[in-house]
Amino acid sequence: MTARLNLFAPEFRADPYPIFAELRRQPTLARVEPIGFWGITRYADALEVFKNPQLFTSTGQAAIAEPAWLGQRNPFAHSVVMLDPPRHTRLRALVNRAFGQAALSRLEPRIRAYAQQAAAELPLGRLVDFIDSFALRVPAAVIGELLGLDASLHPRFKRWADDIVHTTSTPPDAHEMQARIRATYQEMQQYLGEVLEDRRRSPREDMVSDLLAARVDGESLTGEELMGFLFLLLVAGLETTVHLLAHSALVLSERPDVLARVRADRSLLPRFVEEVLRFAAPAQTAVRSTTADTELSGTRLPAGSHILLFLGAISRDEAQFPNGDRFDLDREGQANMPFGHGIHFCLGAPLARLEARLALEALFDRCGGLEGDAGPVQWNESITVRGPKVLPLTLRPA
Ligand code: HEM
Repeated sequence: MTARLNLFAPEFRADPYPIFAELRRQPTLARVEPIGFWGITRYADALEVFKNPQLFTSTGQAAIAEPAWLGQRNPFAHSVVMLDPPRHTRLRALVNRAFGQAALSRLEPRIRAYAQQAAAELPLGRLVDFIDSFALRVPAAVIGELLGLDASLHPRFKRWADDIVHTTSTPPDAHEMQARIRATYQEMQQYLGEVLEDRRRSPREDMVSDLLAARVDGESLTGEELMGFLFLLLVAGLETTVHLLAHSALVLSERPDVLARVRADRSLLPRFVEEVLRFAAPAQTAVRSTTADTELSGTRLPAGSHILLFLGAISRDEAQFPNGDRFDLDREGQANMPFGHGIHFCLGAPLARLEARLALEALFDRCGGLEGDAGPVQWNESITVRGPKVLPLTLRPA
């Protein structure tokens, strides 16, 4: 019998990992309710899908991202992450440079300064929401910088990103929410359009100017591709990194032994960040659709079947990561896929890793201890990214 998983079941929202473990033990793929997708929880199956973009297309997501009530084209649905070759290859080549080492080196001192400022302003010795007071601030400043948006707009980014993410999960009768989301699209297009216009007139040393200047075989990005890319950056680059920092703080508050080791030896930080990415995958899903009839793990998949890859399940697969449910700072060299794999491998992965390292360094300079409030964690509702909604912590001085 086909195993089933309900995305909206309270026990799945609270803790998907025991459910993932059970599904990995089933011989076939799971049916994902209520959306009717096939769910992938095993590492080997995920690798097969990621490595075969001809058979497992990324374009099927666009239809879901553009519901009729939106009343306009969704720039996100035409961004690089929802394209197949050859268009994907061309667009990715164009934007690659904007994420290269030169761009990162240019950003590094700015990220460090943002992180130090956010850490300096952290209230110590009393309960604070770590998300609002720290985890959100660094990625928001970085995205603001990448998109060339005024710092006064940073507080809006979370709402913008939330609304874009919720476009796919808003019920047909949720008219108020739909109106809010439509307004957000208008607002974003207006601000981002102004930035594009400004950089076109007077280029600067930033990513938007790089994107405008990028050429492959004499071709530049179209207006829609540029807007799609800026929308994607906001969603892909903000919430994921916020959750990476929140998960890091959660682990550190629960494991004082790990905190002591990493604080004492900062060279362990990259290893710590990798294990957090494995143990608590910030991006929880990737979507694909089959272009022809095929079979995976004994499950027949007719052409046009939709597939949800559960990155959080894949990264705890015992077949790839022994004792996968255990956070282990000494884990050695087991290839993981928290940033996906293959042609769509996350363009922002080096940036996210850099942000996490610099943010945690700044945090350790200021704080010697992180204490939770012992209450249950309230998790967010998204199926794309997973992290705490709020994270009450008391931070002790270094
Ligand atoms: C912890 C942080 C992050 C995680 C876990 C993450 C995860 C992912 C994953 C899983 C994919 C692949 C999606 C697929 O195969 O369908 C992806 C793609 C992408 N990510 Fe990230 N991401 C993170 C941060 C960032 C940042 C900071 C940026 C940029 C500012 C970024 C930009 C992108 C872009 C542009 C793509 C599309 C690449 C393509 O389709 O070729 N991400 N990300």
